[in-house]
Amino acid sequence: MSNTATLEINGEKHEFPLVVGTENEIGINIKTLRGVTGGVTTIDPGYKNTGACESGITFLDGEKGILRYRGYSIEDLADKADFLEVAYLLIFGELPSKDQLDKFHSDIKAQSVVDDDVKKIIDAFPKAAHPMGVLSSLTSALTAFNPSSVNVDSEEDMYKTVVKILGKFPVLVAWAMRKKQGLPLNYGSNSLGYVENVLKMMFEKPNEEYVQNPIIVNALDKLLILHADHEQNCSTSTVRIVGSSHAGLFASISSGISALWGPLHGGANQAVLEMLEAIKEDGGDTKKYMGKAKDKEDPFRLMGFGHRVYKNFDPRAKIIKVAADEVLADLGVEDPILDIAKGLEKEALKDDYFVKRKLYPNVDFYSGIIYRAMGIPTEMFTVMFALGRLPGWISQWREMRLRKEPIGRPRQIYTGENYRAFKDIAKR
Ligand code: SDX
Repeated sequence: MSNTATLEINGEKHEFPLVVGTENEIGINIKTLRGVTGGVTTIDPGYKNTGACESGITFLDGEKGILRYRGYSIEDLADKADFLEVAYLLIFGELPSKDQLDKFHSDIKAQSVVDDDVKKIIDAFPKAAHPMGVLSSLTSALTAFNPSSVNVDSEEDMYKTVVKILGKFPVLVAWAMRKKQGLPLNYGSNSLGYVENVLKMMFEKPNEEYVQNPIIVNALDKLLILHADHEQNCSTSTVRIVGSSHAGLFASISSGISALWGPLHGGANQAVLEMLEAIKEDGGDTKKYMGKAKDKEDPFRLMGFGHRVYKNFDPRAKIIKVAADEVLADLGVEDPILDIAKGLEKEALKDDYFVKRKLYPNVDFYSGIIYRAMGIPTEMFTVMFALGRLPGWISQWREMRLRKEPIGRPRQIYTGENYRAFKDIAKR
């Protein structure tokens, strides 16, 4: 196979080198395109065919439904690792030894208190504020309390910043939920594991001991692993491009949270539950909603279905679907919403519109059913996605800065007015 691609423009041929990835993906390196063609650029709305970077963190094969973090399969990690191990793997590139993991966790615990003035910021929010907006604001506000920007070339400085955000972020997640519920903004306990501590902070009532349920702990740990990274998705690309201007890590992550909030991205897990609730209210009429999803005149989409990369089953959806059955059975929860979801999936997987467009359930289709069974409010579902995605955002931001990638600044093709002389207001 040739190691270049040839582009002919205005009768001139130009060669561009091919970049071949470790999984044999091929990219055309067009770094010299504008220079050799006198300013010709490419255009690719939504970057459906455009790679923004080379990366060694996550590999996806959308046709085969493969997802690996640093070479390890998502199935193995979800089954055999815990969330902090996976966070360490994503950020530092290797699975930690027991000593490394124990130190990582204790260093995170040492950073798990936030400045009490953060409570004054939360107090200013109305209870009706969406927790994703609260979380994004608080994460950006962390910069005010931790003003020194990280020196990415210093391993020690980078490590300190990583454990700081991993320690403080779960507090912000819990406080965003407790603010809505009118509960005191509390802390968990450093005697607990990372996920147990998150659950205690989220659910503890001021007048009773929070009792951990291992089923919920294991399910949340698995969900966080499944959400931990996903190569150059919308929110991660946002974190990378904001970080490429050398904005700080907390500010970059805050922007990623805002991107994740959208219903086409992480906000889909909340939109799925709202859709399933609507179908239930509508007497479980899944056919009506399938019809709406296929009607070009109707803005309704089958939330939790379809994916930019997966044109096969999202491997995470497969794992979450099994976990949903297990968690609801273990908790003794009968949820008609799960039956509606399964009915919808069954119909869609044999419907020509969905089959032709290769629309399968994605990570968001079943996750909300588990969150709901855990007692997590629907508006908090995307916050839980952000908690899981945090190590992915950190790892991608760190990779981009360590590789000294240039500031992100896409080109465009101008299609507006040509030059025109100014017209005085008296003549308009
Ligand atoms: C996440 O990128 C990531 O990795 C994201 C993520 C991660 O881990 O970070 O995996 C997390 O964001 C998962 C996706 C969650 N979003 C949803 O579930 C929202 C519903 N899905 C869609 O809006 C859509 O499928 C996207 C946004 C996920 C993908 O959109 P694309 O790749 O831009 O595809 P498209 O909109 O061009 O759709 C292609 C066709 C269109 O029909 P035609 O114009 O060809 O006739 O498929 C149709 C679309 O109308 N289509 C759908 C549909 N999704 C696509 N029709 C009905 N219901 C849907 N859900």
